[in-house]
Amino acid sequence: MANYIQRPKGTQDVVPSQSYKWHTVERIVAETAEQFGFREIRIPTFEETGLFVRSVGDTTDVVQKEMYTVSSTGDSTFTLRPEGTAGTIRAILENGILNEGFPQRAYYILSCFRHENVQKGRLREFHQFGCEMVGAADPAADADIIALVKSILDRVGLKNIRLDINSIGCPKCRGEYHKALKAFFEDRKDELCETCHERLERNPMRILDCKVEDCKKIAADAPVILDYLCDDCKSHFEGLQENLRVMGIDFVINPHTVRGLDYYTRTVFEFVTTDLGAQGVVCGGGRYDGLISSLGGPQTPALGFAMGLERLILTMEKQGCEFMEPKGCDIYFVSMGSNAQKKAMELTAKFREEGYYVQYDIVGRGLKPQMKYADKIGAKFVMVLGDSELETGKAKFKNMQTGEQTEVSLDDSILESFGEIYYTMLLDTDEDFRDFVDSFAEDDFELGN
Ligand code: HAM
Repeated sequence: MANYIQRPKGTQDVVPSQSYKWHTVERIVAETAEQFGFREIRIPTFEETGLFVRSVGDTTDVVQKEMYTVSSTGDSTFTLRPEGTAGTIRAILENGILNEGFPQRAYYILSCFRHENVQKGRLREFHQFGCEMVGAADPAADADIIALVKSILDRVGLKNIRLDINSIGCPKCRGEYHKALKAFFEDRKDELCETCHERLERNPMRILDCKVEDCKKIAADAPVILDYLCDDCKSHFEGLQENLRVMGIDFVINPHTVRGLDYYTRTVFEFVTTDLGAQGVVCGGGRYDGLISSLGGPQTPALGFAMGLERLILTMEKQGCEFMEPKGCDIYFVSMGSNAQKKAMELTAKFREEGYYVQYDIVGRGLKPQMKYADKIGAKFVMVLGDSELETGKAKFKNMQTGEQTEVSLDDSILESFGEIYYTMLLDTDEDFRDFVDSFAEDDFELGN
């Protein structure tokens, strides 16, 4: 292995040849969120540690084992955000957004940090696209949030993805449930991990999402909260199911979906794929009606979700989904000699100003290597500029796909001449463009009638 400093374990580089995949999903998630009425929020990468302890919860794996916390001068400690909800709600409170009317909707695309055991689909730095909706208690809001995720998954072309829903009740119904869980786990306490011993005393529900294999096996037979829901939570959950049916969204009621963060109340949901092995949850979310008040704000219902972008892209790759290809090179100016290179620069500036994607030789290669390079970067057209072209004031655009050459004057008419050549090439090769042009023709015809 080369003697370079390596990237930290559990982090990833997105190299230039791959970033178009990220641009594809970032564009689709942002556009869909905006379509559903969300606007982007940007928040700091680190927050006061207490924010995560109070919101995510001090008996969760995230807070107990996975936070990257640094102490600063003075007494403060800061933590790299392990998720986006806490910071978003902090920002909504701090910026007085609750006074701007309900519901409020915010989306984010951000990096998160968790010190986890690294495996496929489980990283230490990963990226989430998430949405938070504040001030909506009705199950219509839960359905709308789920519909947004569904719409994104459809648009990126994912298949075979299951929606699990569950209700984990409210503090009112949890009392009885906690007693039942405690009694269940008490009997098998010796088989539980150390952390779960403490959870048994403080928050037995957290044992249900412990990642230790033995604890997982025991938890599989534990009582489920659906059997303990109060009437209000029950009718909210039925309302959600009804709404999902109305919207034509398939779901499975999974009483074992409990989510790994403490702030959830009532609805929880996960979109799960079987294509990623153990880390199949591409998106998770739910309602958190108690979080805003627990952070010092007024009692306000809220809900949201976050999608792991690495997991989304991995699944898309596995399923052969399409990504939007980056726009390549329209013209490559090959130049021979310094005068020709100056002409290439002048023309490049002119064509770039017009919006074309243009490159020319900047490393002093010979004719053949320049042609080879133009081919390698997929240039659609090449123009060779040498002494004779400069003398005659004429040069040829070569269509790299067909080999066809068209001579043009190197004067001010060149942009217009190239426009015609480019338009003809698009008509010949680009189906979308042809359809686009045809649609105008049809419109004209209709107008003419
Ligand atoms: P979460 O389930 O912890 O929920 O994370 C959401 C998504 O982030 C997961 O479904 C997964 O796709 C991705 N993810 C989580 N951990 C990792 C990791 N170590 N490596 C790669 N991807 C990962 C939350 O974070 C909540 N804040 C979601 C939410 C928003 N609930 C309401 N609003």
